[in-house]
Amino acid sequence: MKKKEIVEAILGKQRNTLPAIPNAQAFAPTNIALCKYWGKRDRELNLPLTSSLSISLGKKGTRTEVKKNHANHDEIVLNQQSVDPSSSFCKRLIEFLDMFRTDENLYFHINTETNIPTAAGLASSASGFAALVLALNKWFNWNLKEQELSILARLGSGSACRSIWPGFVEWQMGKREDGMDSYGVSISEVWPELCIGLMIVSGKEKPVSSREAMQRTVTTSPFYSLWPAKVNEDMTAIKPVIQTRDFDSLGKIAESDAMAMHALMLSAWPPINYACPETVLIMQKVWELRRDNLPVYFTQDAGPNLKLIFLKKNISQIQSAFPKVDIIQPFIDK
Ligand code: PMV
Repeated sequence: MKKKEIVEAILGKQRNTLPAIPNAQAFAPTNIALCKYWGKRDRELNLPLTSSLSISLGKKGTRTEVKKNHANHDEIVLNQQSVDPSSSFCKRLIEFLDMFRTDENLYFHINTETNIPTAAGLASSASGFAALVLALNKWFNWNLKEQELSILARLGSGSACRSIWPGFVEWQMGKREDGMDSYGVSISEVWPELCIGLMIVSGKEKPVSSREAMQRTVTTSPFYSLWPAKVNEDMTAIKPVIQTRDFDSLGKIAESDAMAMHALMLSAWPPINYACPETVLIMQKVWELRRDNLPVYFTQDAGPNLKLIFLKKNISQIQSAFPKVDIIQPFIDK
């Protein structure tokens, strides 16, 4: 199994160490891609077909505690409720933990708290796997570099490799077959005025997982071959825009990138449409506000929820247009 070999290569001799302390905790923010990751060149290692760029959402994310479980099985607790071991969530996590089990009698007790809806296109798996890797790093005292932590998180969920850092993060796609050059890189730029508004349309589990939707798009969309060039163009354009804090260009790049990704999904077969009627109503409202000269944009991931992008000086107008909006100031809410 390739994944285990990567873990072996990263942990080296430390692979066999037992936990250093009774328990360890870590937090990782969720992240929202402004230039999306949509398509894998290696499905086992979650290696992407393009680079991508995200912003981490401050205090929105996942806090995870790891300790030894004294029963003969792993135990996962999510938001204070024990997770059914036969659920796909639990199986995915245990499969991930298996790569780090140093002794067949070592069972994990994972206590995880998240302040974002899981599996609703709000990147809960991104912050989940990143927080887990950070907590394991402390528990086993691996002392890994951030790059290595990013690679390990990527093995759990691709976008998790960007959740190791706050602020803007670029996931460099890399070229190597083993993915050792495919990890997140923090962008040092700060933009305190930048706001993200979560518009939760539904907290329900999505009907098609991002994993399945991504693969279906790559294999069946007649337009997928256009996507790498589109993301590369967006990636090249967005970096100077972040440096110069050119808000309208940032919003336009992010919205257009997301719309292009969803257009690919609509052209897949069977088609994938994550939007529900309320999603479309919010999009139309955003376009109407823009026509009235309010600078607001949105992005959408693998779910019906939208993330509004706007500046601090427009908070009150955004709140009156969208009373349910949950506002995050990624560079201020720490
Ligand atoms: O990492 P995954 O498998 O949850 O995929 C994430 C895909 C998007 O959220 C839609 C895009 C992205 O870059 O985060």
